Amino acid sequence: MATSTKAATGDSDDRLPLKKIPGTYGAPFFGAVKDRLDYFWFQGVDTFFKSRMDEYKSTVYRVNMPPGPPGFPDPRVIVLLDQKSFPVLFDTSLVEKKDVFLGTYRPSLSFTGGYRVLPYLDPSEERHTKLKTFCFNILKDNGPRLFSEFSNAIGDSFIVWETALEEGGTASFSTECAQFAFNFLFRGVVHRDPVAPGEASLGTKGGEHASLWTAPQLAPVASLGLPHAIEELTVHSFPLPFILVKSQYDPIFKFITTYATDALGKAEALGIDRNDAANNLLFFLSFNAFGGFNIFFPAVVREIAGVGPDLMRELVSEVKDVLAATGENKISLQSLGKMSLVTSVVYECFRINPPVPFQYGRAKKDFILESHDASFEIKKGEMLFGYQPFVTNDPKVFADPGTFNPKRFLGPEGEKLISSVFWSNGRETDSPTLQNKQCAGKDLVVTISRLFVAELFNRYESFELAPKPAGPAGPTSQVTFTSLIKNAKT
Ligand code: HEM
Repeated sequence: MATSTKAATGDSDDRLPLKKIPGTYGAPFFGAVKDRLDYFWFQGVDTFFKSRMDEYKSTVYRVNMPPGPPGFPDPRVIVLLDQKSFPVLFDTSLVEKKDVFLGTYRPSLSFTGGYRVLPYLDPSEERHTKLKTFCFNILKDNGPRLFSEFSNAIGDSFIVWETALEEGGTASFSTECAQFAFNFLFRGVVHRDPVAPGEASLGTKGGEHASLWTAPQLAPVASLGLPHAIEELTVHSFPLPFILVKSQYDPIFKFITTYATDALGKAEALGIDRNDAANNLLFFLSFNAFGGFNIFFPAVVREIAGVGPDLMRELVSEVKDVLAATGENKISLQSLGKMSLVTSVVYECFRINPPVPFQYGRAKKDFILESHDASFEIKKGEMLFGYQPFVTNDPKVFADPGTFNPKRFLGPEGEKLISSVFWSNGRETDSPTLQNKQCAGKDLVVTISRLFVAELFNRYESFELAPKPAGPAGPTSQVTFTSLIKNAKT
């Protein structure tokens, strides 16, 4: 198993046999349209990648990735589906990360006030250094506040769910997730409650504004649930204009410029224009953070429910035992550090279901790339693309990869696997820096996700969910509690 941050670039004498990269892009335009129809319609995402992997007997091959012609630039990519080739995407000496945050396209700059925000910048750009420093600083300054605001915000949602179930209604996890995720982030960083009255109050609409502003940016690569023919002729073929969601962006921007005076002042001290900083802050909080948690938390709840009552009992007893041993009545960063099953569950959720499934990078020069079985010539300018759910389910690294194993990362053998968890555009054992493109919020994300699981089982003995609705999975699929049994202590 490779453990270094460097990709397997095969420049040693014992390099694996050099092979031509299999796969084809087909005829111009028609090849891209065919692949896109396979991806969204005839095959679906996983079969799209798996069928080609089987056909070419290779985890590295050429294919067109959506979106594509006529409205989007070049869809040709080289797919990476194994743990050995994929880390090339972390190596910014080999790949350029300019404008590839969402894929082969970059939404219009109107969505971000005319600025190329941090996730679209390559570390070679000076703005990357300044803006990532800004992001690191706000996370460092507000770490304890974000921690306590999370517990407060999810506490409000506990009451909402319990009241709804007592009244015989349904308790939507998804609706409340949008509330507590948005509220803790904005209270923690902007230092103002979005719900509190005031000239720039967002009321309870903050999460909705953020989701609707994000949607057209992701639409080219997403299934929106519209009839296929309509999606293919519209959102998968042409970018949607910002004007459709300006009314969603404006209130969040006003909230930030009105109340985030502390954060914006610190950005100015770093030499970042205030308007640029406000747009970046809006992106970090509404797209990166809120968007990420809104995908990840429902997946965590589903995975735990899928394993069932035994796991829930063990989680309850770990949380209770740690709190009893530390004498705390509230979960703290210290007590969280002692909850190893909670941590293993969170890593397993990231492994089996990485919330951001796609990663892109353009080759900065010619080099040789290795998969587990062969080596391949990569040419400068070619687009490399990793489909992360296959990579983190690589059977050469993880035993029984398709099974959710809550204890996978426990003990000395389990700990060795942590470096192969890749959700953050880097190894879980690596750290985001000014030179790399690893998620700036990586440590916060893992801490808050552990806190989420711990808060849930500090409050409840067990829960049950309504069956998964039919239709495409992902952020739009609703998660609903049908029962919540309170912990005897609460
Ligand atoms: C970058 C995932 C939360 C800030 C990324 C990337 C991924 C990711 C995969 C790399 C994208 C690429 O270039 O290929 C997630 C997930 C999150 C999350 C799944 C939550 C579950 C956060 C939070 C913040 C944040 C809480 C900070 C408030 C950023 C920034 C970048 C980034 C600024 C760009 C880093 C750079 O340009 O060097 N995130 N993220 N993210 N994330 Fe996160």
